[in-house]
Amino acid sequence: MEVLLARDYHQLSQMAARLVAAAIKEKPALTLGLATGATPLGLYRELVRLYQEGELDFSQVVTFNLDEYYGLFPDDPCSYHYYMETNFFQHVNLRRENIHLPPGRAEDVTATCAAYEAAIAAAGGIDLQVLGIGRNGHIGFNEPGAALNATTHLIDLAPETIRANARFFASINAVPRQAISMGMGSIMKARRILLLASGRDKAWAVAAALEGPVTTRVPASLLQLHPRVTVILDRAASRQLQGKANRDEGWPMCY
Ligand code: GLP
Repeated sequence: MEVLLARDYHQLSQMAARLVAAAIKEKPALTLGLATGATPLGLYRELVRLYQEGELDFSQVVTFNLDEYYGLFPDDPCSYHYYMETNFFQHVNLRRENIHLPPGRAEDVTATCAAYEAAIAAAGGIDLQVLGIGRNGHIGFNEPGAALNATTHLIDLAPETIRANARFFASINAVPRQAISMGMGSIMKARRILLLASGRDKAWAVAAALEGPVTTRVPASLLQLHPRVTVILDRAASRQLQGKANRDEGWPMCY
């Protein structure tokens, strides 16, 4: 695991965008796993800027989003469909048929989840998966528990996730109680993972994920078992790390 320290959120976003851009330049038909939440907003802004400056071409890139709230229509401003559309998709030259998100509503949830896994496999698997991290150590919407799901599934959101994500909704009662999320196996199969964390409210989850025991109680800790993970943190998010290595900005700490 390679851990890069950024001075602040702006630098974190630039570092993340450079890494994603390099992956697309190396493989123009990259299969890119995408995340939502506040953390990757700066990354999307930087990627849009690079596209507008003629530095990046998304015409062959294929995307798969991690998750979607269950029960929301794509045009609901609180849905991840809407988030991706307004913050990223409509600003770059991704082809519509190359964009994939789990649906917010499905008649047959089991079949829908299986179809999502099949689509990832048919695209050759995910080359680079971008992740944020929940305050309780969740990734995607894989919540802490005695056991974790391997594949895309419908999940009940943890009360603390509902509380944390209420800031994006009119009230806490408006936050959906369920979501469809890629599973831990779907994420761990990605050939490369980029985890981003910013702010002091992520410091506990970051320390538990990077330095704590590998446990289903902290889903992000399973990333310790993945062969190619890059973590980019700002100073605030790195505060609870014991610091097994150099803490200079931009200097990789290796775990
Ligand atoms: C949600 C998303 C996650 C995201 C997390 C943290 O629960 N499902 O993919 O990483 O929130 O979001 P934020 O970056 O807003 O703190």
